[in-house]
Amino acid sequence: MNADKKIIKTDFLIIGSGIAGLSYALKIATHFKDASVTIITKSEKSESNTKYAQGGIATVWDNTVDSFERHIKDTLIAGDGLCDEDVVKMVVENAPARLQELIDWGVAFDKTNIGNYSLGREGGHSHDRILHYKDITGAAIENALIEQVEKTKNIHFLSHHFAIDLITEHQVKKKQTKRLEKFTCYGAYVLDEQKEIVKTITAKVTMLATGGIGQVYITTTNPTVATGDGIAMAYRAMAEVSDVEFIQFHPTALYNPGEYPAFLISEAVRGEGAILRDYYGNRFMKNYDEREELASRDIVARAIDHELKKSGMPHLYLDCTHLDYDSFKKHFPNITEKCLSLGIDIRKDYIPVCTAQHYICGGVNVNKKAKTTIKNLYACGEVTRTGLHGANRLASNSLLEGIVYAHNAFENIAIRFDKIKAPKNIPNWNDSGVVKNMEKVLITHDRNEVKTIMSNYVGIVRSNERLLRAERKLKILYEDNKRLYDHSELSVDLCELRNLITTAFLITRFSKVRKENRGGFYNVDLD
Ligand code: FAD
Ligand code: SIN
Repeated sequence: MNADKKIIKTDFLIIGSGIAGLSYALKIATHFKDASVTIITKSEKSESNTKYAQGGIATVWDNTVDSFERHIKDTLIAGDGLCDEDVVKMVVENAPARLQELIDWGVAFDKTNIGNYSLGREGGHSHDRILHYKDITGAAIENALIEQVEKTKNIHFLSHHFAIDLITEHQVKKKQTKRLEKFTCYGAYVLDEQKEIVKTITAKVTMLATGGIGQVYITTTNPTVATGDGIAMAYRAMAEVSDVEFIQFHPTALYNPGEYPAFLISEAVRGEGAILRDYYGNRFMKNYDEREELASRDIVARAIDHELKKSGMPHLYLDCTHLDYDSFKKHFPNITEKCLSLGIDIRKDYIPVCTAQHYICGGVNVNKKAKTTIKNLYACGEVTRTGLHGANRLASNSLLEGIVYAHNAFENIAIRFDKIKAPKNIPNWNDSGVVKNMEKVLITHDRNEVKTIMSNYVGIVRSNERLLRAERKLKILYEDNKRLYDHSELSVDLCELRNLITTAFLITRFSKVRKENRGGFYNVDLD
């Protein structure tokens, strides 16, 4: 394959290089040794939500002390009645096998002094069951997977390649399409950022593994690549999308004004016994849930939001002063170092924390085989709605969902790939009618405006009036962006803005439609 060409034909196209995309790529490329596998990713190879994951991956590793039933029950409770029980069972029962594969690919999860895997605890878990590598589990996984991918001959890995749109009948037949029609995916149009050209990458099978949406909000733990591209692309291609109103806010991002994205103080720190204190130093979680600091994330985040509104202060505190410093530093070296760099010595100082957008529970609908509603388009990871998380994801179930669904997609494709034909007669990208000169500052203004609208009106606590306002303002932004997009030379910034607006709009519309409060969704007018 020649990556300089404007037209690339590949057997498998994978959009995204986090845990979902990379683990799927490895399985496909190892099984189909003669097939060509192309991974595209919009930034550096490793840049992804995966890279920043801290706490770890949930699994029942030792079933003499823990059980699948307990992990299933905890997931269902966190999901507040909206999980698909069959999916939860399937994911939980497949977890140990998928974790073993990560270990075989070189992820060295922490062990105890006697050589067993060290199992951490996070909110909503009734047992210690989180495999982790210090407090940088995601980086350990991402690095191990990239190392394996780079050793695999039939994988072509293109960084700084931005997927603009999926190719379906919309482009091939150039006809008006309706949302309920059946479509097929033939690949994607991709902006090569360094060469400034749009490539047509055709594929027999396309995998969407584009991750999250955090950049829709001002304060998020997600890196800048998390702009909802996958959800927006799939929606434009008329795939089914759902549950996007369930946005998860992490209770404890480090309060450090001006630092974007927000640095996370892992929930595993509360799992080790850290205590939440209000601005004046008082404990408060017992007023909200009998599990106190280890209640599920939606409950703790809402409690913090309430406390912050009550005090009028921008943050409260996480108290680790009573914990054993040496073992804290061993488990959380990255957090310890980050705090020290800001003059916070956790032996005597409380850590200032606030809530931050962290995860989206819904997304592109997939079945248990990771199939979307568009033929030959699969999806896995945070971009999807699988039914695992319901109204609120249980901590450390996301990395797990990514590898389980990557595997399921692989298994399904292994039995049907021979029957899939290579796409033919795919039109190239049409950029007629665009002009070069566009004020870049317009994009920056609009990006900031989306974030402000979503943070002010579609945050932890919503109301009918706030949602109406958000929708009205987003409509104006949508129209402005459409004019820009149709007439300007493409750039990653412009494409991201288009996707941010679409994603924000979807979150708002789905929030308006939801008529009961569940899990991470809370509208004061529905109380
Ligand atoms: P990602 O890892 O986000 O990868 C998406 C990829 O798609 C990236 O490479 C991105 O650049 C690429 N991409 C996106 N759009 C395009 C486009 N248009 N064109 C080309 N490429 C594109 N979960 C847990 O289970 N345990 C944890 O301990 C944990 N800790 C977390 C800590 C932090 C700070 C954060 C932010 C998240 C954490 N999560 C955790 C959530 C978890 O990390 C993510 O949900 C998970 O990594 C998502 O994996 P993914 O492969 O679906 O997406
Ligand atoms: C964390 O370490 O607190 C994040 C865990 C998660 O998002 O599952």
